[in-house]
Amino acid sequence: MNLFEVYQINPIVITKARGSYVWDDQGQQYLDLYGGHAVISIGHTHPHYVKRITEQLNKIGFYSNSVIIPLQAELANKLGKISGREEYQLFLCNSGAEANENALKLASFHNGRKKIIAFKKSFHGRTSLAVAVTDNPNLLAPVNQTGNVIFLPLNDEAALEACFRAQGEEISSVIVEGIQGVGGIHESSASFLQKISSLCQQYGALFIADSVQCGYGRTGKFFSHDHAGVNADIYTMAKGMGNGFPVAGILISPKIQARQGMLGTTFGGNHLACAAALAVLEVMESENLMQNAASIGDYILSELKTIPELQNVRGRGLMIGFEPIEEWKDLRKNLLFTHRIFTGEAKPNTIRLLPSLALRKKDADEFLESIREEIHAPATEELK
Ligand SMILES: Cc1ncc(COP(=O)(O)O)c(C=O)c1O
Repeated sequence: MNLFEVYQINPIVITKARGSYVWDDQGQQYLDLYGGHAVISIGHTHPHYVKRITEQLNKIGFYSNSVIIPLQAELANKLGKISGREEYQLFLCNSGAEANENALKLASFHNGRKKIIAFKKSFHGRTSLAVAVTDNPNLLAPVNQTGNVIFLPLNDEAALEACFRAQGEEISSVIVEGIQGVGGIHESSASFLQKISSLCQQYGALFIADSVQCGYGRTGKFFSHDHAGVNADIYTMAKGMGNGFPVAGILISPKIQARQGMLGTTFGGNHLACAAALAVLEVMESENLMQNAASIGDYILSELKTIPELQNVRGRGLMIGFEPIEEWKDLRKNLLFTHRIFTGEAKPNTIRLLPSLALRKKDADEFLESIREEIHAPATEELK
């Protein structure tokens, strides 16, 4: 049987991984600054993670939500503390799209409304509502066209206010990434997030913070929206939550009441998924990974800004984007095939860095040195 070919694939077979490195089937080592799309949060095959999952698997891997799963409460408590949202409620599912799907649906259940505000260049996933609020017509099948989504320019407070003034009573929710990932590392400004928060409160709409890519400590705070000092009504999480184990969830404000049957899932919150998610939080805490993400991220950002061939160096923590000038448009390819460094991309020519939050300074230096070597720029004193 053939695979359904929907991916652009690098001709590389990865057979081993550790920390911020992976190895291919020829034994070639690569530095991983992509993390399988922002998924590897605590580093590949972290010993505590492997141990916790292995021990759990030897006890019980799965049972459905028809019985008590104490690991779920343990995870909720830990998430509440680390995110500073102990009064919120947790619903567990399996992927980022599913988290957003549930969040949008929950908002609509809560206020009985249909319209959603989303933003240009957003990406929220590929299931029916998640893709409807994604600003990419190529991903939208005719069946996904609801007519209920209003796309506004990101960071345009006047447009947002005008939209609420005109149809505020119909708006169910506003969904926004703290930093757009797939869209190319574009940060929502603090004042824009504050405006979303206040307009949502004023008009009875819900503020959904898509933290699937920018959340889980990647920017130095648990949610990147926290840099704006606002509280969203629902936070959606996935990617880094399981360090590769498929687990996702939504944090739900106490003002939203659960009712039986409102949301549901077979796999969500199973024993193994909770063990993986707990292991991730335990390592984040014991190794101070949020602080590490902030400081190594600052270091990479400031070093990249000294290289004139790289334009629009931007981002926060370990979520960084930049564009090489036209002459170096093959930089990403050369980093992979010459220097053996994985990076991410965003169309048309952004290089995205989404490494593990445990990235060390010496790994960052290896990357910076490779870039400088590649574009023949003179090395700084420190890197000589
Ligand atoms: C911001 C954001 N939301 C949602 C998703 C969808 O997540 P998943 O692929 O796990 O469904 C992604 C995936 O890249 C994302 O970047």
